[in-house]
Amino acid sequence: MRKTATKQSGKIPAQPGPREVTSVQPVPSDAESVIPGAGPSTRPGERPTVRLRDAGPDDAPRYAPEWLELREGPDAAARAGDLLDPLRIRLANLPGKAGLVIHDLGCGTGSMGRWLASRLDGPQHWILHDRDPYLLHFAAVASPRSAADGSRVTVETRRGDVGLLTPDALAGASLVTASALLDVLTREEIDTLAAACTGAGCPALLTLSVAGRVELTPSDPLDEEIADAFNAHQRRGGLLGPDAVNAACEAFSERGATVRLHPSAWHLGPAEAALTAQWLRGWVGAAVEERPELKERAERYLRDRLEACRAGELKVVVHHSDLLALSRPTGGAS
Ligand SMILES: C[S@@+](CC[C@H](N)C(=O)[O-])C[C@H]1O[C@@H](n2cnc3c(N)ncnc32)[C@H](O)[C@@H]1O
Repeated sequence: MRKTATKQSGKIPAQPGPREVTSVQPVPSDAESVIPGAGPSTRPGERPTVRLRDAGPDDAPRYAPEWLELREGPDAAARAGDLLDPLRIRLANLPGKAGLVIHDLGCGTGSMGRWLASRLDGPQHWILHDRDPYLLHFAAVASPRSAADGSRVTVETRRGDVGLLTPDALAGASLVTASALLDVLTREEIDTLAAACTGAGCPALLTLSVAGRVELTPSDPLDEEIADAFNAHQRRGGLLGPDAVNAACEAFSERGATVRLHPSAWHLGPAEAALTAQWLRGWVGAAVEERPELKERAERYLRDRLEACRAGELKVVVHHSDLLALSRPTGGAS
């Protein structure tokens, strides 16, 4: 059985704030301030940005709510609003007017719902899926209450593996969404997901998949080596990491869906210093786990990068992609 995380904030922001703060966010300076699950790990096989310290060796990676909370504002600022108009047109043309049924796959603490529910009109029922019951609890407690036009939003949670989704599980669905999920799936799981969505005739808005490219300013000669090692780490165990978006485009297109891609990069500056620091620790930690020979140089690199981050002198662009797949309707959606 999985153990529960030892450190919980219990605080999930109701709505991510705009990115207009210009002061430098405080950055923890000591190792103990690292969020469980967001810092480098020392045990082989663990994935530094995600595994909680007290998870067992056979448990699936778990995500610290504090990490998800830190990224919620930059995620909201990054998601591609341009994909919403074609989605709204599709949703407006659905047969029946009973309201939208939206499945959020790998919902974590529910950040996608807090972003999207208030951007769509009409009553909505959200079905939040995750394999982690602890995160599902957070998601249910902090779920959105109203749509763009003030209509009611209701939620239910479903614990399970989204890699096993079937068209039946999506019967009556108006939309499938996910955020920061595709890159932690395998090709088979993405094929299964695409088959479920297209089989149910349901559009899918799949946001914030890592693209495998980062830009740090000022640059450092080690940037590229760390990035390559991190990308290799993301592909461990058959996971797709930066290859996920292309795999998803292929999987949906092969099944007759029309696919649109849009960039959705994080732009991290002094106002996001706390997130940048945690991201750096996880990014460098994974690179060293993948290529232990980098350790000494990477430690120096991380120290310098954290120092620049603390001083408000570091800018980071982490590239992501958002994908909208419009499946051929099957007539089954509500
Ligand atoms: C990076 S987090 C993103 C969470 C949330 N969507 C967000 O944007 O904040 C990935 C989430 O997917 C869930 N997850 C990963 N693989 C899964 C699977 N095969 N089945 C169900 N949930 C999964 C994890 O538990 C975690 O909550």
